[in-house]
Amino acid sequence: VNNFYITGGRRLEGVVNISGSKNAVLPILAATILADTTCFLDNVPDLLDVEVMKNVLLLLGAKIEVGGNSLSIKTDEIVIPKISEELAQKMRASNLVMGPLLAKHGSVKVPYPGGCSIGNRPMDIHIKGLSALGARFTEKSGGYIEARADALHGAKIHLDFPSVGATENIMMAASIAQGTTVIFNAAREPEINDLQNFLNAMGADIQGAGTDIIIINGVKRLKGCRHSVIPDRIEAGTFMAAAAITGGRILLKNTKAQHLESFIAKLEETGVDVKIKEGEIEVIGRNELAPVDFTTMPYPGFPTDLQAPMMSLLAIAQGTSIIKETIFEKRYQHVGELVRMGANIKVEDRIAVIKGVKRLSGARVAATDLRAGAALVLAGLAAEGCTVVEETLHIHRGYEKFVEKIKALGGAIEEEAY
Ligand code: EPZ
Repeated sequence: VNNFYITGGRRLEGVVNISGSKNAVLPILAATILADTTCFLDNVPDLLDVEVMKNVLLLLGAKIEVGGNSLSIKTDEIVIPKISEELAQKMRASNLVMGPLLAKHGSVKVPYPGGCSIGNRPMDIHIKGLSALGARFTEKSGGYIEARADALHGAKIHLDFPSVGATENIMMAASIAQGTTVIFNAAREPEINDLQNFLNAMGADIQGAGTDIIIINGVKRLKGCRHSVIPDRIEAGTFMAAAAITGGRILLKNTKAQHLESFIAKLEETGVDVKIKEGEIEVIGRNELAPVDFTTMPYPGFPTDLQAPMMSLLAIAQGTSIIKETIFEKRYQHVGELVRMGANIKVEDRIAVIKGVKRLSGARVAATDLRAGAALVLAGLAAEGCTVVEETLHIHRGYEKFVEKIKALGGAIEEEAY
């Protein structure tokens, strides 16, 4: 097991290259199941979650070759549409193979993805959408989801909630179904747009990603293609918050500011200066941060994945901030840890009230999920003294070369096995 050892008080300054998006590449890897020939992916981040998804595909019979941040993947010999228990427990996103396997192989068997620390993560919206396309689900003993489908057909599908994963599973299944599918109340995240571009490069006929209505005209077959994954907007937001919380100055490269508009607007309300250039964002921190209120919402609202990093920042603002988390029911695991560092935060159901304190103090804390972990690192970088962050595996799930990038910006952080 590894810990991060952080000495706070240094301003982070310099340039950071943002990696490819975890939440774009995971559905795209699942979508390669639909291709008859080899797919080539660039700007693939080196993350634990990407390793898990690659292992899922390898276990199914895919062939993968990796070279740096590029990989080629051949899935025409996939035979066993069953995901193992231990792999599904490792990552909820393994459920993204459901749509492709049902469409291409007519059957799938995945364990109910493990609930995780941010909520129980149900699958009802996925199941309802895929059933509308003709899949027949049978709940087997042992908590597996099992489904069969002779031939999927188009349907009109209304999502009860704009679920990102459900939108992606339905898009992938419908891409080679017979007829037209329309998804209403679809998720609008940039990662959905990247998946649409990938599927269309494979020969699919999809339009509307980025809006709440997505139209998929099913085609007979999809072929391999080359695709470069979009930058990770959540990693970018995390480093922007790092500049703000340390009063530093960071230039982010390989990033798309238009994917972060609501976060940037909120960050500017704290008084931080944000300069946007082509493919770059520069953040200039200040010594005083103003408190702000925000509510997490589906895209384009404030992203739930940046709620924890933003809370660390507001813990040292000059006043009281109010956060409302509407996406996940248990996404305040980091609050107790921040309070141990001297933060003044009270949680009442979905509302967190943060009274800014002058300075946080280093402490021994533990990451409970990847974004909470990142938030604790940010807090440690700003705190007085030394902070130890345990359970760093969570952070390596979603942040490529996190320690190296922070060190390159002047942060005092080491990772030690113990
Ligand atoms: C994706 O998860 C992201 N993961 C999450 O990022 C992100 O927090 C989330 O979208 C919201 O933006 C990936 O893209 C791999 P949802 P997903 O389905 O698809 C409920 C990170 O830190 N729901 O949009 O699982 C669900 O319980 C991760 O990178 C149902 O009720 O999110 C939750 O409350 C964390 N039934 C809400 O919808 C369903 O069938 C949002 O879930 C599906 C979801």
